[in-house]
Amino acid sequence: MEKFFDLFKKNLKTLRLELRLLEPSAENAELIWNTLKAENRGDFAFINYSPKYDKPLPESVDDVLEIMKNDDKMAADNGVVWYIFHNNNLVGYQRIHYWPQSKTIQFAAVWFVKSAWGHGFSQEVHNTLEQISFEQLKVHRVTRQCMAGNLHSKKSIENAGYHLDGCVRDSHLMPDGTWMDHLTYTKLESEYKD
Ligand SMILES: CC(C)(COP(=O)(O)OP(=O)(O)OC[C@H]1O[C@@H](n2cnc3c(N)ncnc32)[C@H](O)[C@@H]1OP(=O)(O)O)[C@@H](O)C(=O)NCCC(=O)NCCS
Repeated sequence: MEKFFDLFKKNLKTLRLELRLLEPSAENAELIWNTLKAENRGDFAFINYSPKYDKPLPESVDDVLEIMKNDDKMAADNGVVWYIFHNNNLVGYQRIHYWPQSKTIQFAAVWFVKSAWGHGFSQEVHNTLEQISFEQLKVHRVTRQCMAGNLHSKKSIENAGYHLDGCVRDSHLMPDGTWMDHLTYTKLESEYKD
């Protein structure tokens, strides 16, 4: 477990991006809020980066601070949360978890601001995390998942060569009262190509 934190619990760099660990502080919450407040909530309908179940994104700087504190607790045992910067501007978020019993890294949650979609940023981040997972940590598999209606995410995961393992039916109760399936994907050690 310690090795996991040594390799992952630090700031990382990819070709174009910086993944930074941010402390839950008023200053950092302000930075994230200033980035997210102008985003269209409809573009994030299939995530829950929010303290409120029926809201996809935070609605105030206090909400952001609450998310950061919750993430800190959630990540304490087996996870890492990064905020992603491009040219020193905050553009995204990534959370991962490690499950030692199954030698699995779960890429648990990711978002980018709309202006950062379509540049291959998610792929770039996942490539780096896969490299560390398979080449340094020697895990057996990595997992990704998305709501079935999240066409951008589904495409991004499938283009990255993940295998669709299954569909969890009616997994999410959506804010409008309808039910949404959840798709779960894996890539095994034997399927990894750097
Ligand atoms: C889902 C999401 C993370 C995908 O992010 P992304 O960075 O656009 O995804 P990818 O890295 O797979 O980028 C692929 C796109 O970039 C393009 N691209 C441009 N340069 C590229 C490069 N150097 N490498 C790879 N792709 C590149 C690809 O052609 C592709 O475009 P297309 O979708 O029009 O075919 C993003 O849409 C998002 O944040 N959505 C809202 C939150 C959300 O739903 N999160 C996921 C929850 S499961």
